[in-house]
Amino acid sequence: MRREAPAAARNRQPILEVLRPQLPTEGLVLEIASGTGEHITHFAAALPTLAFQPSDPGEEARASIDDWTRTLGLGNVRPALLVDASASSWPIAEADAILCSNMIHISPWAATEGLLAGAARLLPPGGLLYLYGPYIRADISTAPSNRDFDKDLRRRNPAWGIRTLEEVAALAVSKGFGSPSVVEMPANNLSVLFRRSNTK
Ligand SMILES: C[S@@+](CC[C@H](N)C(=O)[O-])C[C@H]1O[C@@H](n2cnc3c(N)ncnc32)[C@H](O)[C@@H]1O
Repeated sequence: MRREAPAAARNRQPILEVLRPQLPTEGLVLEIASGTGEHITHFAAALPTLAFQPSDPGEEARASIDDWTRTLGLGNVRPALLVDASASSWPIAEADAILCSNMIHISPWAATEGLLAGAARLLPPGGLLYLYGPYIRADISTAPSNRDFDKDLRRRNPAWGIRTLEEVAALAVSKGFGSPSVVEMPANNLSVLFRRSNTK
């Protein structure tokens, strides 16, 4: 049941290096759109004092995540939950940090709206929302590989496509997050880190 995504195996360590100093030392980290589970199980193995909650709407994805957890013998990863980011309620009430990699461009905009609303509901003041993936930026020319990727996504589904960072950030601010910190990552991806504002 365990699945492998070559990109996840390549980018999980660079993501961990950005995340490690930003995460609390204890508490629960929720991942939305965990996919194969290779990210969250890598982070859980490296950060044993934290608990991790994977999720994905796909049944095969959830089976893959749980299989990786079993195979790696990780006691700090909970069974994967079915969470559709676009739903107005999620089957989990709170989290100390929320991660979401490579979902925003490959789902309708409603998933991003739901993700930001859900993160605002669940996170405590100051809590981290971490996003990873490709973005278009208003003031920086888009890499040819991302332009081609965007075209391909929109051909596969007109509701998909690489979003502009400014559009995602404006929505996040409207939901109660501060302006993001942005870290450039390999292969023209970004880490985008939001903190829940102190007033909730
Ligand atoms: C390209 S994969 C990324 C998986 C993993 N995060 C990674 O970076 O390797 C996109 C994932 O988004 C999930 N997804 C799509 N729409 C979603 C939604 N509305 N809510 C939550 N997850 C969604 C898919 O099931 C899939 O696992």
